[in-house]
Amino acid sequence: MKRGQLSTWGDLRTIIEPFKIKMVEPIKFTTRGQREAILQRAHFNLFQIAAEDVIIDLLTDSGTAAMSSEQWAGMLRGDESYAGASSWYRFEKVIRDLTGMKHILPTHQGRASERILFELVGGEDKVIPNNNHFDTTRANIEHSGAEAVDLVIDEGLEASSRLPFKGNLDPSKLEALIKKVGAKRIPLCLVTVTNNSNGGQPVSLENLQQIKAICQRHRIPFWLDACRFAENAYLIKQREEGMGNLSAREIASKMFALADGAMISAKKDGLANIGGILMMQDDKLAEKANNLLILTEGFVTYGGLAGRDLEAMAQGFTEVLEEDYLRYRLRSVEYLGEHLLKAGVQIVEPPGGHAIYLDATSFCPHIPPDHFPAQAVVCGLYRHAGIRTVEIGSVMFGASSKAENTTKSPMELVRLAIPRRVYTQSHIDYVIEAVVKVHQQKEKLKGLRIVEQTSALRHFTAKFEEIA
Ligand code: F0G
Repeated sequence: MKRGQLSTWGDLRTIIEPFKIKMVEPIKFTTRGQREAILQRAHFNLFQIAAEDVIIDLLTDSGTAAMSSEQWAGMLRGDESYAGASSWYRFEKVIRDLTGMKHILPTHQGRASERILFELVGGEDKVIPNNNHFDTTRANIEHSGAEAVDLVIDEGLEASSRLPFKGNLDPSKLEALIKKVGAKRIPLCLVTVTNNSNGGQPVSLENLQQIKAICQRHRIPFWLDACRFAENAYLIKQREEGMGNLSAREIASKMFALADGAMISAKKDGLANIGGILMMQDDKLAEKANNLLILTEGFVTYGGLAGRDLEAMAQGFTEVLEEDYLRYRLRSVEYLGEHLLKAGVQIVEPPGGHAIYLDATSFCPHIPPDHFPAQAVVCGLYRHAGIRTVEIGSVMFGASSKAENTTKSPMELVRLAIPRRVYTQSHIDYVIEAVVKVHQQKEKLKGLRIVEQTSALRHFTAKFEEIA
């Protein structure tokens, strides 16, 4: 794919949102002085800031989608029966039609699926490969005593390399791992679509087929972390040879058909504000998972959710595969990325599915990794424009058990995650202007040191101070 290549709508290039706005939520504006005080009070950790004090919230695309009128209608129809609610059957049918999975377990969100799965298949001595584990996935695997291993292709770790599928899992790295530790120690192999920890980059269908074949040869179950399956499917349609004529739904079905099981956080492509799914083909594993589900989430036909949530999910998983929606969604993320690149801001190229990731190493070369350059950019964007983003770098992935503050993460990134159907093009234009302004004054950004932290998932609560 060439730099600067744009997808278009026929001969019209203006992105229009494929929806009208029926309900609005006011944004409170703050001054720079107010934001400075807020930042200090939050110890430079944006997870500690009230959402009300944020102008544009790009912290996450998770649980932040605007629901459609049909989803809200479903919320009113929600059947709140404890067992066998009609909302459950509607939800189950939508997910079974999409994925072909035999056992579908509802959970309250993605990490609840992870907690159940890794309690069953994880444990001391086990090794779980993935293209890249997301933070909660890694934390749940490590909590079980198992080891989480990232096997993304090398190009996936270079911000400026421009391949269509930088989320791919490297087949030769997987073969080498199996040879090294033995297939018996690998209870399953995950692939995350799209690959959230490396720039929201997609995984090709060809790569999924290759990994499945390797897993099959070694009798290792092949699983998907499929939170963003629809965006991955649409990027396959746009970028993979021979896929352009298939619908996003057909491609998504091909992806799921390869898998022995999948976890989905419905807070992303489910277009829901809460919810998750754990699904699998294996009867024995499903029986054990159902028992754990009842223990901590709820009965098997609601799994920690209200009937109305199941309705929102059933409708969300249907709407997310509409081609007009996906074309707009991918194009609007691309629009943000193209404008930043044009202004000389290095991002993870090419733009991925749900977010644009700034390469903080090139953004502030004067700040070394152990002074958290990406966190410095996160603070700079908030200070300057009230935009909340998240660090995906040595704060999130550096080991916190070391006496030193950090070990290095392979990449120092700032994620600008775009909530689904929430912001319009003028909001995104504001973001572009702000990032470019902060970039022009990048020498003013200051590194940080951690003054307080927890041993796991430290990025949520760590306290920082700026280094003068
Ligand atoms: N897997 C991936 C790839 C994710 O991105 C997330 C969540 C999860 C699993 C866990 O799902 O939040 O429903 O428990 N990612 C969010 C994010 C939090 O901001 O990227 P959850």
